[in-house]
Amino acid sequence: ISTQPEAMEEEDPLFSNLDLFLFTLIAGLIIYWFMSRKKAEPIPEFKKLDQPAPSTQETSFIEKMKKTGRNIVVFYGSQTGTGEEFANRLSKDAQRYGMKGMAADPEEYDMCELSRLAEIDNSLAIFCMATYGEGDPTDNAQDFYDWLQESDGELNGVNYTVFALGNKTYEHYNAMGVYVDKRLEELGAKRVFDLGMGDDDGNLEEDFVTWREQFWPAMCEHFGVEASGEDSSIRQYELKEHNDINMNKVYTGELGRLKSFETQKP
Ligand SMILES: *[C@@H]1O[C@H](CO)[C@@H](O)[C@H](O)[C@H]1NC(C)=O
Ligand SMILES: *[C@@H]1O[C@H](CO)[C@@H](O)[C@H](O)[C@H]1NC(C)=O
Repeated sequence: ISTQPEAMEEEDPLFSNLDLFLFTLIAGLIIYWFMSRKKAEPIPEFKKLDQPAPSTQETSFIEKMKKTGRNIVVFYGSQTGTGEEFANRLSKDAQRYGMKGMAADPEEYDMCELSRLAEIDNSLAIFCMATYGEGDPTDNAQDFYDWLQESDGELNGVNYTVFALGNKTYEHYNAMGVYVDKRLEELGAKRVFDLGMGDDDGNLEEDFVTWREQFWPAMCEHFGVEASGEDSSIRQYELKEHNDINMNKVYTGELGRLKSFETQKP
């Protein structure tokens, strides 16, 4: 009888050792799983550039224009992209007349430099300014707007024109474009072509095209450029129809991306 408890005492630790072993193993596995999971998603580190960011140079649109031989800068205040698109079209137009333009986001450049535009021969600043909400500037034009209001700088010798984008049904129709047009003149800049008024409730595209058709001949006269050469300096295309092509083998995606052929997006 007396041996029985002894036998039990000997068996008990054996079971609990196995339990302990299994428990430790499972706990170990769980911890390992958690640790390896954490390692799998490391916190991204953003390295600071040693050199001053190149953007410090690029905030000067004057230097950029001088370096690339451009004489026309088209600033845009754009919320939905239409103002930006118009600015791009105007800057591309310029080469038709032997000039070089660039579209520029006022948020990315130091607008205090506007007065220096007079340093560039035959230069011109175009502003495609959209009005937002209750006559407000677009987000990207807010700083420029603030600067215009506070500035008492002299813009003598700066030639400019403005195309405004807005919606006539709003109370403050084209308020931003009208303000920029008026304010630049107050600061001493010279309006070389009348303010264009684009109405999105009517036909904004048509308003723009009409303004642009009158604007370029006027500029050619202003710059003493002959407008006759028209399309001679731009690329020309020929349309050919190929009906014999297997359309499943025609690539219609974007060329510039890696693997874009395998995973095509329209
Ligand atoms: C601005 O236009 C005037 C003529 O209206 C011209 O004399 C002047 O040179 C122009 N300024 C620049 C910087 O091109
Ligand atoms: C212009 O504003 C009116 C009134 O808010 C609106 O009904 C109309 O759709 C707007 N036009 C465009 C093209 O957004």
